[in-house]
Amino acid sequence: MTILVTGADGYIGWPVLLKLAETFSDERIVGVDNFARRRWVEEIGSVSATEILSPAERRKKVEKIGRISFVEGDLTSKEFVNMLVRVYQPDTIIHLAAQPSAPYSQISWEKAVYTQFNNNISTLNLLWALKENGLLDTHFIAATTTGVYGAPEYPIPEGFYEVEYKGGRDIVPHPHMAGSFYHMSKCNDINNMFLAHKQWGLPVSDVRVAIVTGATTEEAKNELSTRFDFDFYFGVVTHRFCAQALIGYPITVYGKGLQGKPFVTLKDCVESFVELAKRDGDGYRVYNQTLGAVKIVDLARMIQEAAEEEIGLEVEVKHVPNPRVEKEEHEMVIENENFRKLVGKPTDLKEAIKDIFSTIEPRKKVIEAYKDRFLPKGLKK
Ligand SMILES: NC(=O)c1ccc[n+]([C@@H]2O[C@H](COP(=O)([O-])OP(=O)(O)OC[C@H]3O[C@@H](n4cnc5c(N)ncnc54)[C@H](O)[C@@H]3O)[C@@H](O)[C@H]2O)c1
Repeated sequence: MTILVTGADGYIGWPVLLKLAETFSDERIVGVDNFARRRWVEEIGSVSATEILSPAERRKKVEKIGRISFVEGDLTSKEFVNMLVRVYQPDTIIHLAAQPSAPYSQISWEKAVYTQFNNNISTLNLLWALKENGLLDTHFIAATTTGVYGAPEYPIPEGFYEVEYKGGRDIVPHPHMAGSFYHMSKCNDINNMFLAHKQWGLPVSDVRVAIVTGATTEEAKNELSTRFDFDFYFGVVTHRFCAQALIGYPITVYGKGLQGKPFVTLKDCVESFVELAKRDGDGYRVYNQTLGAVKIVDLARMIQEAAEEEIGLEVEVKHVPNPRVEKEEHEMVIENENFRKLVGKPTDLKEAIKDIFSTIEPRKKVIEAYKDRFLPKGLKK
């Protein structure tokens, strides 16, 4: 048995690779990455708050285990992907490689095109390599995003819902109402994966990943830490808020902050991918990988309180003009029954926030040095 993990050097991919190694004792595990995430963060002038090993050091660490390979390559190259699939014949693919930042994809025409080309061609290459190599029983597990749903005024179903129109009725995929060129790249991926499933029978687990929050997992910590970004482009809201609080900078809420956003802890995110890898694929299954929605102002308050409890710091919550085009008031209700069957009771967000503070506190100086990266140019705290 072989499990192929794309994006294995990433924030989620690295802990997934380590947990797979811990969980599966006989399987061969192959991690792939082109290390682009390291370059993007450098390009926008920031750094990971946690110290992470270089690609060569990470390769050395995992290859010591014996059954693990760490391959460098770009998934937008058809030749590379075909070689990968032909040589390793994966039974399972956990596809995590992507340019994952919405604000980065919105910078310019070049970034929007780059993001969609990178994400969509990588996924298409993998799907076609499975087809061309006669591997259509491979369980294709892909990270998409809860962002594809947009912000509808009704409970968000897990991928599909029943529609009644002019006397007819059907179960159909939920419409894509994404709010950035990055999120649209995931909508395009979903369309292509659904097509590959319908036309070729490829079993797909489409994991709609929420805002992943946390700094460590059982395996990815200390020397084996995963990255932790806190800048405007690559830091998710929870990570930015925690980094701001840690150095006594105001927690900057965009606009009113009354919109509910879905969250998931890093631990549950990683665990559910590994849990899916234990199973054979079956149809086209969608998992809303989230513990539920929390309003941004409530998240800010939660982090403000945690900063006081964990590190004895009093920080201010400040509202700044919203650099995003989005609803600032929204009651998000999102169903997650399929996901809950994978992890049981999701881990508490407060636990993940505690874990973040204890992990990044020793790296306070790094965050202090890059605090001008918290907000985009033109937005002052
Ligand atoms: N972190 C989140 O909050 C979040 C939320 C929703 C969805 N997701 C999705 O989860 C997946 C993993 O996200 P992440 O936060 O770990 O991001 P990440 O950027 O840390 O990881 C993605 C990895 O893929 C690699 N990669 C990108 N393009 C590649 C290519 N063409 N060839 C080879 N490798 C390539 C990058 O170098 C990076 O290491 C992505 O698909 C992302 O869109 C993440």
